[in-house]
Amino acid sequence: MKDFNLDSTRIPKHVAIIMDGNGRWAKKKGEMRIYGHTNGVGSVREALTAAVEIGVEYLTLYAFSSENWNRPKEEISALMDLLVQSIYNEVDELNNKGVKLATIGDVHFLPASCQKALDEAKERTKKNSKITLILALSYSSRREISLAVQKMTNEVINGELDSKAINEDLISSYLSTSDYPDPELLIRTSGENRVSNFLMWQLAYTELYFTKILWPDFKKKNFYKEIFDYQKRERRFGKTSEQLIESNV
Ligand code: FPP
Repeated sequence: MKDFNLDSTRIPKHVAIIMDGNGRWAKKKGEMRIYGHTNGVGSVREALTAAVEIGVEYLTLYAFSSENWNRPKEEISALMDLLVQSIYNEVDELNNKGVKLATIGDVHFLPASCQKALDEAKERTKKNSKITLILALSYSSRREISLAVQKMTNEVINGELDSKAINEDLISSYLSTSDYPDPELLIRTSGENRVSNFLMWQLAYTELYFTKILWPDFKKKNFYKEIFDYQKRERRFGKTSEQLIESNV
C-alpha cells in the first residue's frame, strides 16, 4: 500500500474479481488442476485482506460459474470440498476482519455440505459490517437476468406490477445484487479479456482491468496496483470532461 500512494478519498466501494488461471498455474508446475485451486485460496485471502485494509466495502468473487458444472466430475467435487474446507478454516478470521459473507447464484444447486457450511458462515458473520464478501457460486448473469424478467412478468400478469414502472432501477432491484452498489472496478486474472457471463447488467459503467497474472500468484500488491490504476482513469458516465469539471466545482 505504501508503495502505491493511494488516494483514500477515491477507493472503489465495490470491486469484483474473475479469479482465473488456477488450472494453467498448476499445469506449469506439473501438478493436477486442484493444486491450482488450493493455492488460489491463498490469493482469496490476499485480495480480501488488501480490500479490508484500504476500505473497499464490497468484494465479489466469481468462485464457480453455472458453466463450471460442465467440468470433469472429479474437479467439481474437489472444488466443492475445497470450498467447504476453506469456509470452516477461515470463518474465525472472517469474523476477526469484520467480514460479512454473502452469496449470489444458484447456491441451492450446490452439494448439501456446501450449503450447510455457507449458511453457518453467513449466520456467524451476519453482524459484521467492515466489508461484504460476496461469493458468486453457480452464477450466470444471463440466468440472473432471465429470472428477474420471469418474476417481473408474473407480477405484471397478476396485476402487482405496472409494466410502465419497469426502468433501470427497478430491474436492478430484481437482481441478486439488489443490496449492493454496482462494482466500480472489475479485475480478471490470467490474460483472458472476457466478462464470461459475470455481472453483465451491473458492469455497465465498470472499469475493466485485465492482468496476465495467474490467480494463485495474485498478491496484496497486485490488488493495490489495480486500485492505483483505477484511480488514474477518469470515469465519465457518458459525459464530457468539461461537464465533469463543472459538476466538481
Ligand atoms: C478459474 O481457474 C477458477 C475457478 C473456476 C475456481 C476458483 C476457486 C478458487 C480460487 C478456490 C475456492 C474459492 C473460495 C472462495 C474459497 P481455471 O480452473 O479456469 O483455470 P484455467 O483457466 O487455467 O484452467
